Amino acid sequence: MKTNRIVMKMPTYKEIYDSAKKSLQSAGIEAVNSEILNIFWYCFGIDRSDLLFRGSEIPENSKYIKFCEILQRRCGGKPLQYAVGECNFMDMDLYVGEGVLIPREDTSVLVSASIDAIKDIQNPKIIDLCSGSGCVALALERGIGRPCDIYAVEISDKAFKYLSANHRKYSSKAKLINDDVFSCYKNFEDGYFDLIVSNPPYIKSDDIKNLQSEVLFEPKMALDGGKDGLDFYEKICEFWIPKLKKGGILSFEIGQGQYDDVKKIIESFGLTNIKVFLDINDIYRAIIGEKFI
Ligand SMILES: C[S@@+](CC[C@H](N)C(=O)[O-])C[C@H]1O[C@@H](n2cnc3c(N)ncnc32)[C@H](O)[C@@H]1O
Repeated sequence: MKTNRIVMKMPTYKEIYDSAKKSLQSAGIEAVNSEILNIFWYCFGIDRSDLLFRGSEIPENSKYIKFCEILQRRCGGKPLQYAVGECNFMDMDLYVGEGVLIPREDTSVLVSASIDAIKDIQNPKIIDLCSGSGCVALALERGIGRPCDIYAVEISDKAFKYLSANHRKYSSKAKLINDDVFSCYKNFEDGYFDLIVSNPPYIKSDDIKNLQSEVLFEPKMALDGGKDGLDFYEKICEFWIPKLKKGGILSFEIGQGQYDDVKKIIESFGLTNIKVFLDINDIYRAIIGEKFI
């Protein structure tokens, strides 16, 4: 008996690009070209100029399937980083997905300011509170580049899985703690740390519903800073400043318009020598203070 086999013709890179562009456009995605190039790079290892010269080539089947899965997730509205499963932060490709905040470029301001603030301290003891993917703790460890003792605290089990995976990926020596920053301070003696750093949830509760639809895919517990967005700053100062050594540094990321309020909070807990750092859009993004007594 004669059987007819249907042979599917695999599309070329150029055909894949054109059809992905149409799909993303009809899903209402804005920066279509750069998004497709991102996904191309991730799935095929092909950049813009490769695409021009190798447009008539055909990718491996398994890579094409991966591309289609990512595209489908992105067309469903998931943030690009969740669709891909990775996010670049300060030269690291960190695992991310539902349940963990996508690291933001602006957070590099917090990391750089913190590294500089402790540059003269040998074997610094550091704790990253509200660690999420671990972007801050891991970037500190890599950026400090000398022996240091780093802890990272994250309450969410889902986020903690990503933190652990990133910790493994970068062979980090940081100690991970799956706990609540409002209780685990009791496990450390007073005057222990040289640096306490945190990018805590800082969006006002009422503002969360007005955030971009993509941000709403991210966990509310990573965003919600209480009625005025300041809950974490107040409580972290109350519970954790006693854990700083004399001369130790507290370093916070802050949201737009929060500088005056957070400065007041930090000062009310006795920190001095307050410094503030701008992000690329000239927004005050990180604030640090020093414990003198
Ligand atoms: C704004 S995100 C920052 C994540 C990461 N540090 C970054 O910069 O991308 C805040 C993180 O704090 C965690 N978190 C919220 N409440 C917490 C608590 N009480 N104790 C520990 N972590 C908490 C959230 O799950 C979230 O991962």
